[in-house]
Amino acid sequence: MKKRASLLAATLGLVAVAILSLVTSRGSAQGAASQMSGFKAPVDVDTTGLPGPVQPIFYRHDVHAGEFEMDCRYCHFAAEVSPSAGLPTVSTCMGCHIIAGAANPEVQKLRDYWNERRPIEWVEVHRLAPFVRFPHHRHVNSDKELECQDCHGPIQEMPQVYQYASLKMGWCITCHEQEEASTDCTVCHY
Ligand code: HEC
Ligand code: HEC
Ligand code: HEC
Ligand code: HEC
Ligand code: HEC
Repeated sequence: MKKRASLLAATLGLVAVAILSLVTSRGSAQGAASQMSGFKAPVDVDTTGLPGPVQPIFYRHDVHAGEFEMDCRYCHFAAEVSPSAGLPTVSTCMGCHIIAGAANPEVQKLRDYWNERRPIEWVEVHRLAPFVRFPHHRHVNSDKELECQDCHGPIQEMPQVYQYASLKMGWCITCHEQEEASTDCTVCHY
């Protein structure tokens, strides 16, 4: 684990460190929280029985968002400006993985996608019914200061992402009542 931290500094050098501090200095509360916890992701993970769908590449939020404290918005920047939070493209990963993690077989898979100019077909974890409207930007920019983790749980400690909340209508309504947001049928239904 020490090895990872020194690899990060040594292989990425000042450029990526600057990117990282830029990203984390964008003032996110969850960045500050993980800094205080000093979370270390386990080096070896037994993947059998992990909750959530198996992905084409074993990309780990606990390593990137947890141990390295990367801001969620570095990869899911669309959450602030659009209904969908979106997923990063391969080139976002390659900004670091041209160099980092060469010996790791999962990183090698990533490089194969890159070399073949193929997009990664990540398996969806969340999917609301098509008759429900859910705008990320309205939640993330709300003056109620909602965090990603309020709805997605401790993603920064998950080796594999799973659905944390029920996403049922009652779950939405309970929070809307607590936070004095609208509970009009037409707000959430087309
Ligand atoms: C380095 C890029 C990167 C960072 C940083 C990152 N993610 Fe992700 N995220 C991904 C990728 C790639 C996927 C798709 C693969 C997967 O599900 O693990 C994903 C998937 C997800 C999903 C599930 C998407 C679905 O299909 O429903 C959620 C929720 C999520 N991320 C939340 C977060 C949160 C919250 C943070 C910050 C704590 C974060 N992510 C940080 C790259 C990133
Ligand atoms: C800001 C730099 C950065 C970005 C962006 C980034 N990574 Fe990484 N990633 C790293 C570093 C550093 C390591 C640790 C390498 C090591 O331990 O040798 C790592 C480790 C990994 C590993 C191995 C995890 C393990 O320890 O088992 C995988 C797989 C991986 N990254 C995939 C991705 C994917 C997919 C993306 C894009 C969604 C991505 N990374 C984006 C820096 C980054
Ligand atoms: C108020 C609850 C809530 C908050 C806060 C929230 N999300 Fe989500 N997120 C959801 C729901 C619900 C879905 C499923 C959306 C759908 O299926 O249309 C989702 C889906 C996603 C997905 C899958 C891709 C997509 O856009 O559908 C990603 C990635 C994601 N969220 C990341 C984030 C990140 C990063 C943050 C913080 C910046 C965040 N979310 C904040 C509830 C939330
Ligand atoms: C953790 C609390 C929380 C949860 C869970 C939550 N919301 Fe919200 N939602 C809010 C808050 C707070 C606002 C008001 C944002 C503002 O206007 O500042 C909001 C606003 C909205 C809006 C925009 C309302 C408008 O006036 O345009 C929609 C649509 C919405 N939520 C749908 C959903 C759906 C669908 C779900 C469940 C899948 C959900 N929300 C779950 C807190 C939550
Ligand atoms: C804050 C968001 C929100 C509001 C407000 C809301 N709903 Fe829903 N509704 C949902 C979500 C999310 C689902 C999907 C539940 C699921 O997939 O299990 C849903 C599902 C439904 C369904 C499908 C049946 C089911 O259980 O799957 C009906 C019918 C429905 N809502 C009617 C209404 C009516 C009528 C109102 C107003 C009194 C209303 N909704 C207000 C979020 C909302």
